[in-house]
Amino acid sequence: MTVIPTTKPFVEVLSGRRQPVPPIWMMRQAGRYLPEYREVRAKAGGFLDLCFNPEFASEVTLQPIRRFNFDAAIIFSDILVIPYALGRTVRFEAGEGPRLDPLDTPDKVGTLSSSADLGKLEPVFEALRRVRRELDPNIALIGFCGAPWTVATYMVAGQGTADQAPARMMAYRHPEAFAKIIDAIVDNSIRYLLGQLDAGADVLQIFDTWAGVLPPREFQSWSVEPTRRIVEGVRKQVPSAKIIGFPRGAGALLPGYVRTTGVDAVSIDWTAAPSLIREDVQNHVAVQGNLDPLVLIAGGAALDRAIDDVLANFAGGRFIFNLGHGIQPETPIAHVEQMVRRVRAYRA
Ligand code: CP3
Repeated sequence: MTVIPTTKPFVEVLSGRRQPVPPIWMMRQAGRYLPEYREVRAKAGGFLDLCFNPEFASEVTLQPIRRFNFDAAIIFSDILVIPYALGRTVRFEAGEGPRLDPLDTPDKVGTLSSSADLGKLEPVFEALRRVRRELDPNIALIGFCGAPWTVATYMVAGQGTADQAPARMMAYRHPEAFAKIIDAIVDNSIRYLLGQLDAGADVLQIFDTWAGVLPPREFQSWSVEPTRRIVEGVRKQVPSAKIIGFPRGAGALLPGYVRTTGVDAVSIDWTAAPSLIREDVQNHVAVQGNLDPLVLIAGGAALDRAIDDVLANFAGGRFIFNLGHGIQPETPIAHVEQMVRRVRAYRA
């Protein structure tokens, strides 16, 4: 694969070069808060039909770029396409979130395939190629996957849960069976991420939304180590691959996560302690985050103050402005515009 030199400010930050105005994008930037997304979503039918229709998926990927001129587009898909490609049943019930066939006993895990049918994900690769063709060359394209721990929480429970108890219990009671699930996700996520790079992604993000429920030992085994293996597996084929990790809720375990996984940047949530991040994280890698999505709903002076706090905390170093988690459907578009204006007006 040829690597084309870039002038993308987003990629520059990941390469260790701080930008005077921090690049900005939002997790879940394509979504229900946008009327143009709701329109395409209604035409597509089911949520997975939207993910697997390259025309619709590329269109909704580009919608937030047209509106807000963000520095990065993230391909529209979902972390649960890996269980789907592994042959599991994955459905999205309207208003209820994902439903999978639970993988909650060692016997059931025995039937799990170790090799995903990546042909099922070809529409995602096609959507990436389409976006790449249409996207301004100064805007980065992000591919992604779920971290093995977070994907496993949905595969074991068969749905989202408040505390990920089913996966935590399985990891304690049946560590070997649980490790088999993790291994299948690691191996196939590597193949999936390499496919995304080949289709035109500039950067990869690994979402570990539920990392924060694990005690330190389990965090090491089920979040850090599998993520490290993915980073290593991708870099074995593409040594220059730029990778962002998002171990949400990792708190004081973040410095260890960064050192061990080898990621180029870490996405932080709004509870992160600024001095810990500056001194033990941002001096090693780039940092992305961490506005509270609720203050983006609130807007007004509270939003301005929160944006200024984030900039004061982190914009002195290698930094990408983002939210601490995904944007919520009820967020007013005008508040997103207010945020983009204020961040772009920043001068260090
Ligand atoms: O960020 C983007 O704009 C790209 C698209 C993206 C989606 N999901 C689209 C989506 C990304 C990066 C994800 C990642 C994802 N999916 C995560 C990790 C990041 C996070 O937000 O924590 C997780 C845990 C999932 C699993 C998932 N997908 C859940 C729990 C749900 C239901 C909750 C909800 O918001 O409805 C989804 C559905 C989903 N994925 C939607 C979108 C836009 C909403 C579905 C709809 O439009 O009806």
